[in-house]
Amino acid sequence: MRAYLVVSHKFQGEINLNDLPGSGRIDVICRGINAAIFLSHAIRKDVIFLAYFSKLNALLKIDASRVRYLNPDERSTAALIRNAVIKLSDHEVQTSPGFFIKKVTFTETLQEAGSLGKLLYLREDGKDIQSISIPKNVVFILSDNVNMREEEEKEIYDGGAEVISVGPQSLLSSHVIAIVNNELDRREL
Ligand SMILES: C[S@@+](CC[C@H](N)C(=O)[O-])C[C@H]1O[C@@H](n2cnc3c(N)ncnc32)[C@H](O)[C@@H]1O
Repeated sequence: MRAYLVVSHKFQGEINLNDLPGSGRIDVICRGINAAIFLSHAIRKDVIFLAYFSKLNALLKIDASRVRYLNPDERSTAALIRNAVIKLSDHEVQTSPGFFIKKVTFTETLQEAGSLGKLLYLREDGKDIQSISIPKNVVFILSDNVNMREEEEKEIYDGGAEVISVGPQSLLSSHVIAIVNNELDRREL
């Protein structure tokens, strides 16, 4: 099982399907979901995608083995997220097949992520991904279109995450996910 945790810093809960970038950059999360889960004409069943919305203290979990109605385009993915956020409460609810949402702190999110596998934090200046060993159960943490906050990084380090990089350039988070998927595919993980 491979998981991705993307921290979304700008999203405030409103989604205008005609303006995804203007909806707290929810387009970044939609592209992350696309990169994490989709193959050509198929879905990667062994992926869990987590989006932590820091302004809402909310965690969206997508279990790819259970998803239905998920398509590769950003707009319909955003519609599923909108449907989830409308039902946000303290208790986890499944809002469509494979989509789960709940109110939770970042600390609790990291604990949940840690229970899924080894935490690897993606940062431009980290250790080269090609030089490290990666276990079968692993969670990759990355930020959205802005840098991770200092206090978030502290919690990530306190959670025992190792810092790794996919290369010297600062890339879009969805591109980072595609590279990581490719690296794991090549290792047959
Ligand atoms: C668009 S970048 C964040 C903003 C960017 N650092 C900036 O200049 O404002 C999105 C995220 O992708 C990850 N990332 C980008 N390039 C990376 C790389 N070369 N190696 C590892 N992670 C990377 C980091 O988690 C980063 O926070």
